Amino acid sequence: MDAHLINKYNIPGPRYTSYPTVPYWDTDLFTVDRWIDTLQRSFAETNNNSGISVYIHLPFCESLCTFCACHKRITKQHNVEAPYIDTLLKEWQMYCDVLGSRPQIKELHLGGGTPTFFSPENLKRLIESLFASADIAAQPEFSFEGHPNNTTQQHLKALYELGFRRVSFGVQDYDPRVQKTIHRIQPFEKVKEVTEAARNIGYESISHDLVFGLPHQTWESMKNTIEKTKLLQPDRIAFYSYAHVPWIKGVGQRGFGENDLPSAELKRALYERGKNLLEEKGYVEIGMDHFALPSDSLYKAIQNKTLHRNFMGYSSSYTQVMIGLGMSAISDSWYAFAQNDKSVEAYTARVKEGRLPVFRGHILSEEDLVVRRHILNIMCNLETSWKEKAMQLPEIPQIVNRLQEMQQDGLVTLKKDGLKVTEAGRGFVRNVAMAFDLRLLRKQPETRIFSMTV
Ligand SMILES: C[S@@+](CC[C@H](N)C(=O)[O-])C[C@H]1O[C@@H](n2cnc3c(N)ncnc32)[C@H](O)[C@@H]1O
Ligand code: SF4
Repeated sequence: MDAHLINKYNIPGPRYTSYPTVPYWDTDLFTVDRWIDTLQRSFAETNNNSGISVYIHLPFCESLCTFCACHKRITKQHNVEAPYIDTLLKEWQMYCDVLGSRPQIKELHLGGGTPTFFSPENLKRLIESLFASADIAAQPEFSFEGHPNNTTQQHLKALYELGFRRVSFGVQDYDPRVQKTIHRIQPFEKVKEVTEAARNIGYESISHDLVFGLPHQTWESMKNTIEKTKLLQPDRIAFYSYAHVPWIKGVGQRGFGENDLPSAELKRALYERGKNLLEEKGYVEIGMDHFALPSDSLYKAIQNKTLHRNFMGYSSSYTQVMIGLGMSAISDSWYAFAQNDKSVEAYTARVKEGRLPVFRGHILSEEDLVVRRHILNIMCNLETSWKEKAMQLPEIPQIVNRLQEMQQDGLVTLKKDGLKVTEAGRGFVRNVAMAFDLRLLRKQPETRIFSMTV
């Protein structure tokens, strides 16, 4: 890929798991009462049809991986499990009271941190208690993130019996030097064992998370990681761009310096060449960062144009309401976002007082809703259109102006009332979305808040 383009477009930018992005939320205009109003409205509009999604954040990990940008709490003390589950269930009950009638769960995702830090018995108690006050939608999609080093046969069986059919394993990289630097020793044999166990139990979609741009990665090491991954034939592969955000307090990115990271050109080459290797084996690129075999529901969602993106990443089904439970979890009513307290202590204290543990959020304006639809279209379908009234904005001429240069660089094709991201533009999809980000355009951040787009 053209080094000139990489230098030109490698700028700090959001990953657009939401619009507006969290740093641009109008937190001053947000109140929990307004949040509840939007939630009740959205729930009434959609629960009987599409159902709702539930995300549960399980933050604990036994050991810190020093590349990780997730909200986690490192501890080896497993006595934290039971009280944390009690708090989650109390929070869930508060939401059920607010909603008024039984929610219909279409999608359930356990993320972290490390969900498999929790014992299978405790996870079973959590899910069964959750289901006691809900109905399950037809063809539900239940998934969880498993750490290959601590996911047991018992975890896989217990969650399968509760209806989970999808699991994603954090693999990251197989190279011993990279693993040592990111403080995550995880042999191929371990990943193989747990992947095969999940397949034998009947999991329908097994995903592996890989990361490109990690310290000390070379093309040889990346190639070896991808070759090993292909041997295990996961149904999906998340091929994440390493987000280097050491300035964010508390993420714990340390133990390596900027000089240990691949250059922007090498990082882009790791992605481009990695993508070629995956495509040779029949994987199809989905939106940004994701690959799937044609038998996987994510690929089918692309065909049917039903792919959706939310705080959990890409999803093959769409619900307007997503309730996020647990410390740092973000809920989404489509009309508003709400985020929970980011420390286990503050989260627990608020729930104990009988209050929703929401500490900030954003109510979307009419303009936000239109921009949100465009950015979702770009991130999911690599195209958008402003032909329909609901997609029009007074700023479209300025947006098109900004996109002209990307068209000259071969990244997008502009049409009369819309745009399409080209094959060459795929790697720059965050930059294309940024052209629509009116909040970012009106106010550039004063400090670095986003990772680099390449
Ligand atoms: C919560 S973790 C996965 C579950 C489990 N804790 C594990 O590590 O296996 C979610 C995924 O986020 C990705 N991730 C974490 N930090 C990242 C970063 N700084 N840049 C890119 N991806 C990252 C990793 O691929 C990781 O597997
Ligand atoms: S990568 Fe997973 S196990 Fe490692 S610190 Fe992050 S959440 Fe925990």
